[in-house]
Amino acid sequence: MPDRHDAFSPLKIGPLTLRNRFVKSATNEGMAKGGLVTKGLAKFHERVAEGGAAMSTVAYCATSPDGRTFVDQAILDDASMNDFRALTDAIHKHGAAACAQVTHAGSFTFLDKDTLKSARPLSASGGFNKTGIASGRFFKKRMNRDEMDAMTNEFVAACVRAKESGFDAVELHMGHGYFLSQFVSKLYNKRRDAYGGDIDKRLNYPSEILQKTLDAVGKDIAVIVKYSMTDGLKGNQIEDGIAIAKRLKAEGAHMAVLSNGMNIESITHMFGSSLPESDARPANVLIALAMWAQRMAAPKNVVFHENYLRDLAVQVRAAVDMPLAYLGGVQSLEGVDLAMEDGFDAIAMGRALIFDPNFVNDLRAGSVTQSGCTACNRCVTMMYSPGGTSCIESRIKPDPKLNKIGAAA
Ligand SMILES: Cc1cc2nc3c(=O)[nH]c(=O)nc-3n(C[C@H](O)[C@H](O)[C@H](O)COP(=O)(O)O)c2cc1C
Ligand code: SF4
Repeated sequence: MPDRHDAFSPLKIGPLTLRNRFVKSATNEGMAKGGLVTKGLAKFHERVAEGGAAMSTVAYCATSPDGRTFVDQAILDDASMNDFRALTDAIHKHGAAACAQVTHAGSFTFLDKDTLKSARPLSASGGFNKTGIASGRFFKKRMNRDEMDAMTNEFVAACVRAKESGFDAVELHMGHGYFLSQFVSKLYNKRRDAYGGDIDKRLNYPSEILQKTLDAVGKDIAVIVKYSMTDGLKGNQIEDGIAIAKRLKAEGAHMAVLSNGMNIESITHMFGSSLPESDARPANVLIALAMWAQRMAAPKNVVFHENYLRDLAVQVRAAVDMPLAYLGGVQSLEGVDLAMEDGFDAIAMGRALIFDPNFVNDLRAGSVTQSGCTACNRCVTMMYSPGGTSCIESRIKPDPKLNKIGAAA
């Protein structure tokens, strides 16, 4: 029987001690205009810190300009370090920790032809690139060893910059269909060398990046991995998800965040509910097309229930002894208690904290026991509206005045 923790007690992950067990999971904010951090992005995370969570994760910090899926995602390059420093200072002011989700799109990119520098987006395997239909990049490139080494360096350099910008943790994104999950996933990795085949081989390259990241920054900041326990109906199954956790533990990752599903193939396995009609009309036609295609491909009748990833996550919990964050549909004190009873070390929350960043303080004070979030996913459709990600139902609205590049200015 795993230990049951108090959700409001501190948690040590690697070199980092969190003030409680609540982590804001990465929710693409759409507030990094052309790759540069805005005041709005810093304010978004400051509110989460002020609202009581132990750590706020800044979504999608790309390792390079080509590593972006969409143009308004932050790039962890030298130019952004001052602004990231202002953002982490704003989080620290309220006693919380800051985590950078470090990632690369691989072939899952909607950058237009003028923005994406690579002729063909890099991935584990080559061939037809379904994501590139809209942008006219019909083929992806199978990476060779030199390209893999260059990419490893890119990841490590981005994590070093995150540390130097004041982040207390980095989260390597190995799920949802982005670059690293294109190696991990059976759906994408068709290689027959040391980096493809069974799950152990599919993990060899992502593990290299993890090891080098741990070597470079792991003594100073926490190195977390987010991954998908399954790819949805096809592809990786829970046996793969358990094997991934065992490997992460063996490599020394400080915590794993247990997500599920893939952006294109199985988005409802990630969200536990269907996607709605779009509330926003993204000006960028590629983004509009991508969102439309994603909605069309997803089932329309998935009914949300709290802690919807519990059945999968408890299987991972039973198999490994390492810090694990439960993620997926925690919306109430009951949901928090259930995740703690199940023996998880932390609770990651996305939508409940978009709905109200003060949710953790309110739970602690006992003034609220249930989030008002309806899991309608309309915030997902708002990601590329001019104000960025926000909740349609919430009292907190994005302030267009903060939509200015330069959090430090
Ligand atoms: C608007 C929005 C944007 C998201 N963007 C990201 C992202 O950039 N990276 C990521 O790993 N997960 C992303 N997610 C998924 C969340 O981190 C989380 O896995 C999912 O919302 C389930 O958790 P919840 O039920 O607590 O919301 C996003 C979720 C939402 C609602
Ligand atoms: S729009 Fe608001 S209510 Fe709907 S899922 Fe997002 S946070 Fe929850």
